Amino acid sequence: MLNAKNITPKFGTELEPGIQLIELSDAALIELQQLAAERGIVVVRDQNMTQEQQADFAHRLGEPLLKPNAPEGMRQELIPIKADGNSKYAAGELWHSDVSNEPEPPGLSMLRIEVTPSAGGDTLFADMYQAFEKLSEPLQRLILGLTANHTPRAHYLYTSGAKKYDELPTTAHPMVRVHPLTQRRALFVNEGFVSNINGLRAFESRAILRMIYDHVAYAVNIQCRVRWAPNTVVFWDNRCVQHYASFDYFPETRLGYRITIRGERPVPA
Ligand code: SIN
Repeated sequence: MLNAKNITPKFGTELEPGIQLIELSDAALIELQQLAAERGIVVVRDQNMTQEQQADFAHRLGEPLLKPNAPEGMRQELIPIKADGNSKYAAGELWHSDVSNEPEPPGLSMLRIEVTPSAGGDTLFADMYQAFEKLSEPLQRLILGLTANHTPRAHYLYTSGAKKYDELPTTAHPMVRVHPLTQRRALFVNEGFVSNINGLRAFESRAILRMIYDHVAYAVNIQCRVRWAPNTVVFWDNRCVQHYASFDYFPETRLGYRITIRGERPVPA
């Protein structure tokens, strides 16, 4: 049984100290996945894990997405997340769920940070169950029947190894999906990947998307923020969470490795 404490009453959880992820049983990993589905994110501190062990661990969570252009000697399951004094931007510096343009967009992502700046470099997370629940009923009814197009964007070129956007899929997904593990409804449109809502005029689509993005960004009561330390691991469930990587630490260095586990085709709510 995993012992955890809540970060906010409804969103986010941190496991109590003392466990090592690589020693968890299969049953405990199922519990961890359920916890991520229910609480959105799971923070685990002080993990002794090499890159090799993290890449192996990915396969215990499902099918990892691969980075075919991984640097020589690095496992393709690992996506380096690095920014330093030479960086103009950092990966994930806007509200998004990971590579949602995939026909089967990711379920869990797991980020393990090795190097942190002396301050800053937090990641912000937002709860998409509550984001949907907090919309008014007429607006909920409108978006429940709609799909939106998710198109590949710049940082997916980096993580996929593709040379051009048209090598990567664009996919229409329901604007509200049902999470397979909780059966709860989650808002599933994000500023990082969505280009337009199908069936609406361009100006209508733009206005509704802007309103939803503002709702996600400003609704601080449905968000939490994680302060990293070296060897912190965070799991987030992309089916019901968006995140934003703060890049406030230039020119210091922040370095970690993400694994991203294939999910399933979203089921409309
Ligand atoms: C990402 O979007 O996967 C990066 C998150 C982070 O660096 O905190």
